[in-house]
Amino acid sequence: PTVALWGGRFAGGPSPELQALSLSTHFDWALAAYDIRGSQAHAKVLHRAGLLTDDELTAMAEALDVLAADVADGTFGPAPDDEDVHTALERGLIERAGAELGGKLRAGRSRNDQIATLVRLYLRDQARTIAGQVLTVVDELITQAHTAGTAVMPGRTHLQHAQPVLLAHHLLAHAWPLLRDVDRLIDWDVRAARSPYGSGALAGSSLGLDPAAVAADLGFDGPVENSIDGTAARDVVAEFAFVAAMIGVDLSRLAEEIILWNTKEFGFVRLDDSYSTGSSIMPQKKNPDIAELARGKAGRLIGDLAGLLATLKGLPLAYNRDLQEDKEPVFDQVATLTVLLPAFAGMVRTLTFDTARLAALAPQGFSLATDIAEWLVREGVPFRVAHEVAGACVKACEQRGIELWDLSDADLAAISEHLHPEVRSVLSVEGSVASRDAVGGTAPARVAEQLEQAKERATEY
Ligand code: ARG
Repeated sequence: PTVALWGGRFAGGPSPELQALSLSTHFDWALAAYDIRGSQAHAKVLHRAGLLTDDELTAMAEALDVLAADVADGTFGPAPDDEDVHTALERGLIERAGAELGGKLRAGRSRNDQIATLVRLYLRDQARTIAGQVLTVVDELITQAHTAGTAVMPGRTHLQHAQPVLLAHHLLAHAWPLLRDVDRLIDWDVRAARSPYGSGALAGSSLGLDPAAVAADLGFDGPVENSIDGTAARDVVAEFAFVAAMIGVDLSRLAEEIILWNTKEFGFVRLDDSYSTGSSIMPQKKNPDIAELARGKAGRLIGDLAGLLATLKGLPLAYNRDLQEDKEPVFDQVATLTVLLPAFAGMVRTLTFDTARLAALAPQGFSLATDIAEWLVREGVPFRVAHEVAGACVKACEQRGIELWDLSDADLAAISEHLHPEVRSVLSVEGSVASRDAVGGTAPARVAEQLEQAKERATEY
């Protein structure tokens, strides 16, 4: 029969209502394998402290191995009245090692330091998986940028035509934030790599155990510096939740563009059939559901972060049961991202851009007006005047329903004495993009350079 880990001073068992509320195995069972790894490490320090004999350590390690195998193949699982993963696994250990030996493992540890450690172990593994999946999206963006070559598109601000840019330049502008997200995960790991094990309930252990040995055994860089902090802090979990939310937001911004680009009105891009969905009533429909789900799930990922921060706000030190609420938000983020990222990568990989349409639209909306102003500046005209003159060109064209390059020599001269016919040399998309040739600019040579840098960064990890 299942026994709570804390029955001694209580007259009877917990009420069914309390049990139902308290239960966490439906989510914390995901940590079972980590808990057993922690137990293996803990058994070793108990042995080193003289609290387990050689034979006991051997028997304990064997029983934990059997338990791990039974958990892995589903032979052993939580029972309805196991309060949490720790309770269930102690029951499993006692069933395999006997009550005498099984009952010794809990010495010098608490569920408070255990759970704080397990969450870190779990998230450190998941962070590696997620970083790899983010890098796959980055790779697909880089490949698309490579394919785009020197194709141009209308660059936008305020969603209005602004200046022509290279399509590759724009695609890479989505790759860099994702590369920074991978950097964030790597940097986060520095703080996640400290083990709370040995902190006990909050004050540490009196049994001569070695937290550094457990930390090393579990792949941490070292133990936490402060046992109270070790059991109470969840900033490491919240920081992970922020990075997960940021990844969601970065994907969502690209998703929004893909949704717009895929409309009839924009017509910039075509989605592959296998990465789009149909309508149950409108036979003609082909919908960008992956992008929409990415945009929708960003909201959910942000909600997970916000909920977790709200849980932590106002919690006194050290452990409070509220902290049990730290897990579901990040578990949800992990489940969300690990399904979303591969679908998103496939969608990006199979996008086809209508580069002819993009090129035709690039000079529309008077997007070369800045080029006129900057040409005038090179002629020695103060920018304030140049801006006015270029604006007057736009006004004249708008009134007559023509484009900047349609202005005759006489039109130009009438607008400003500084406007010579040579200004037309910059009134082409090619001329415009080629002229923006400082570092980070949209000139083809610079974008090619940037593409190499992105490739290098993406393979560094
Ligand atoms: N299940 C708890 C959690 O996830 C750990 C148990 C600590 N419980 C306690 N009463 N001290 O945070």
